Amino acid sequence: MKKIAFMTGGGDCAGINSFIASAVRHGSQKYGAEFVGIKKAFEGAAADNIEEHLLPLGLPEVLGLEVKPSTILASSRFNPFSPENKEKGYPEKITANLKRLGIDGVLATGGNDTIKSAMGLAELGFPVIAAPKSIDNDVSGTDTMLGFKTAVAFGSQAFRSTVESARTHRRISLVEIMGRDAGWLSLEIGIAGGADLILIPEKPVDLKKLCERIGEVFARQSYVNIAVAEGVRLRNDDPVLESVKKQSPVVAAMVEEDLGWDAHGNPKLGGVGQILRRIIRYQLSLKKLEDVRATDLGFTLRGLPPTADDITLGTRFGTKAVDLLFSGETGKMVGLQGTQIVPVPFKEALAQKTVNWSDEDLSSVGVFFS
Ligand code: F6P
Repeated sequence: MKKIAFMTGGGDCAGINSFIASAVRHGSQKYGAEFVGIKKAFEGAAADNIEEHLLPLGLPEVLGLEVKPSTILASSRFNPFSPENKEKGYPEKITANLKRLGIDGVLATGGNDTIKSAMGLAELGFPVIAAPKSIDNDVSGTDTMLGFKTAVAFGSQAFRSTVESARTHRRISLVEIMGRDAGWLSLEIGIAGGADLILIPEKPVDLKKLCERIGEVFARQSYVNIAVAEGVRLRNDDPVLESVKKQSPVVAAMVEEDLGWDAHGNPKLGGVGQILRRIIRYQLSLKKLEDVRATDLGFTLRGLPPTADDITLGTRFGTKAVDLLFSGETGKMVGLQGTQIVPVPFKEALAQKTVNWSDEDLSSVGVFFS
């Protein structure tokens, strides 16, 4: 084992560069390893012109890199193991490319989809160790992952600002936050940001009851703050939704709009805050749409410089990932369990980690469900 390649797949987030910096420092000093980054992850690795996607990474290149946002290696959601890409021979093309470049092992950062591709590569006999990253915090086998803590820190500051403003102007304020199937990010931003109500994908909402609750909170304190995960489930046949669709062509169009799917079969999301804003307005018979404000934190939580938590986690993941690769391990993810960084088999990591608190605990911090 001498030459190691990095791939950083999926949505970008804080802490990926901290991982790269730490792995390069540790691997070159302890094992005399050489490192190269492959830009655009599996898309770059599968390219005919892979040479043009390479970024050599030595000690000088990673100086100060641990504090930089996002990933210096660009990203892609390309899926080499989709049925049609398997048919086109992409998996074999990737291993052939890597071997031709003299690469002995891969260190990948990613969420569930990238880890699935990393597992495919490991199953083809290529040594791979991964580190989990996702602002959604939805990879299993680890207490937290790169990007999450930074997103919560910044997101809760932003949320607090909307709370102050809603109080001053006596408004209802909705903040939409990423989180497709897992509501961890909305949950923690909502708690730390001071939300009155938190809506997460794990807990479907009845719109009539939700609006009643919003009305009650408004009557009590003259303002309401709601954190809503982009993936919150509204029932298509919810009578309130049906009736608002008739009153608002905008809601009808937004609900019907097909935003498409990514290369791994995940639905593209975004916009539920704007839909809910209108539903609340009609259901509470408010005169103006501006009485309900909607803010979308969206991509503001992805390209952030890492906080101390993510620099530390990236640094610990980086050293452990290199040690695992050099001890002959493959098909494993590094995970934080309690205070220890441990190897986790890819299969265990892939189970979606959704919010699993008891209903009592959720409701006591403001999560709404009906
Ligand atoms: O990485 C997961 C995620 O943050 C989801 O919450 C979101 O739906 C998705 O990324 C969107 O990412 P993109 O538009 O960059 O594919």
